[in-house]
Amino acid sequence: MPLQHPRIRTFEDYQDAYQRSIENPEQFWASVAEPFTWRRKWESVCKPDLVDGHNEWFSGAKLNITENCLDRHLATRGNKLALIWEPNDPKTRQIRYTYRELHQQVCQFANVLLNNGVEKGDRVCLYMPMIPQLAIAVLACARIGAVHSVIFAGFSSTAIADRVNDAQASVVLTSDGLNRGPKQIPVKRVVDEALESCPSVRRVIVVEHLGWPVHMEEGRDVWYHEEAQDAAKTCPAEEMDAEDMLFILYTSGSTGKPKGVVHTTAGYMVWADYTFRNVFQVEENDIYWCTADIGWVTGHSYLLYGPLLNGASTLMFEGVPTYPDAGRFWEVIDKHGVNVFYTAPTAIRSLMATPLDNVLSYSLDSLRVLGSVGEPINEEAWHWYHTHVGKERCPVIDTWWQTETGGIMISALAGVSPTKPAHAGQPLPGVQPVLLTQEGQEIEGNNQEGYLAIKASWPGIIRTTYGDHERAKQTYFGPYPGYYFTGDGARRDENGLYRIIGRVDDVINVSGHRFGTAEIENAINENDNVVESAVVGYPHDVKGQGIYAFVICRDGACANEADKPRVEASIIETVVAQIGKIAKPDKIQLVSGLPKTRSGKIMRRILRKVAEGETSNIGDVTTLLDPAVVDEIISGRK
Ligand code: WTA
Repeated sequence: MPLQHPRIRTFEDYQDAYQRSIENPEQFWASVAEPFTWRRKWESVCKPDLVDGHNEWFSGAKLNITENCLDRHLATRGNKLALIWEPNDPKTRQIRYTYRELHQQVCQFANVLLNNGVEKGDRVCLYMPMIPQLAIAVLACARIGAVHSVIFAGFSSTAIADRVNDAQASVVLTSDGLNRGPKQIPVKRVVDEALESCPSVRRVIVVEHLGWPVHMEEGRDVWYHEEAQDAAKTCPAEEMDAEDMLFILYTSGSTGKPKGVVHTTAGYMVWADYTFRNVFQVEENDIYWCTADIGWVTGHSYLLYGPLLNGASTLMFEGVPTYPDAGRFWEVIDKHGVNVFYTAPTAIRSLMATPLDNVLSYSLDSLRVLGSVGEPINEEAWHWYHTHVGKERCPVIDTWWQTETGGIMISALAGVSPTKPAHAGQPLPGVQPVLLTQEGQEIEGNNQEGYLAIKASWPGIIRTTYGDHERAKQTYFGPYPGYYFTGDGARRDENGLYRIIGRVDDVINVSGHRFGTAEIENAINENDNVVESAVVGYPHDVKGQGIYAFVICRDGACANEADKPRVEASIIETVVAQIGKIAKPDKIQLVSGLPKTRSGKIMRRILRKVAEGETSNIGDVTTLLDPAVVDEIISGRK
């Protein structure tokens, strides 16, 4: 019988746990970690470092995360559903795996990886649809100690190549194709294109999903189902060090190319498990559904690892919220009796815009808890979610966190702590948020606003950026040594509840997806017509933020008005090829110049105002090299 993990049940429990976690973090986290399956216990609970960013948790311990996700549940939950898969098309077959079956599937996939020469520490990139084999493959990597790096299957071949090369992956896992609503996408072809410039890759394992014929590169590509034929369904778990890498996940920052956020084994496990249990309050017989794709961190921590570590039944959905119609989410909830539902504001806002009948025609009786993640949830969306989905009966928990934090940092605990529209709420035990002035002074007291930073290490903290620790140090610990800097601005209300306002750096959040403005500019600048560009975010009703690009074209490219639509279309095509459809600019304005200071720095403040439509209040332009350019930009606003 596995040891039971205690759970916070009341607000007093929360206050008590919080207090203990601050007063004696070592003792607190040692007791949280105790019930897991360890091959060897830790020598030290925590070695914090918020200056150079060399954080360690549970150092010296030995374990395998999949033993904790799967093996330890077999005795008591072997026949319990672990993974439920709902296909894109509601008329096709669902798949359900019990813990015992999932364990076998993971072991079998792990053996296929081993048979294909994958070794502990090797990086394996996954570019796959939301099918059970994606979840299985991720766990199979962890089973044998390979480092998984999942690439969201909406990225372009160029974006794949960047990530595969940065990770120096030797193996790529993919499928023949994927379904996204009414569309089918030839995933393998995108991978083939990417791998033309990825010399590190020696093996591609292809999972059959659509049954499409695909090109199989001789000596490099193999079919999963052929490899699995003779692969055993048991596989011993590799013994991992607490600080051995578990995964790399690429995410955008304010500068340069996306960086590989690294999480390690023990700390991430403890954090994903602890936060899942206490935030969502999932009960033994619940069905839990997180709509995120495994290509993002939410899918890692709260579709896969968190629920499985807790022995929960987790639902995985292949499709989109609007296919075959905008009632699909609610249909799935009724069909599977989902009790706890976790989604993103952008999905809520897009469904809000459709007739209310789409939601009112479903009972949604099973729901008990509603979660939100990825971007600020505006009050209107919060109320719609609370009223029409939760029937005013379910707490709406707004969970703030980041790829770099590994798991939820600030959130109400469902049914335990207070919720307030558009507010994430209070920090989880172990999390010490502070608001800083631009100069780095802590702002005391309530009713205050500032830069959100964290002043103590926690088990899920980012360990490094793959292959470049200096970058992690500069980005997260450099701005305010002694603090982890989040890049977000926040407000603390009169009761100490946090409200996240948005990014304070050059990162924009489009439908919950992070992009660096520089990353999109670099993509635009690849277009032959383009000399220079500047990208800013602006408020967008459904996406949260939209992408507004100001672009200077080379002489002659847009000589006539009539050339403009063609040039704009070709810029969009370039961005889609460089990054993917998700980074497509919503608006492109062709300009003859950009507002620059005499030292050549683009004044984004002005561009943001224009994009937001705040043109009557543009501010001081006297320091600009050419103030006249501002009038031109304002008059050409899209
Ligand atoms: C934003 C997603 C407001 C924030 C888990 C953060 C949020 C970035 C919330 C991280 C929330 C995430 N309220 N903003 N509840 N959750 N964000 O790495 O700006 O994809 O810095 O992680 O999303 O995005 P990431």
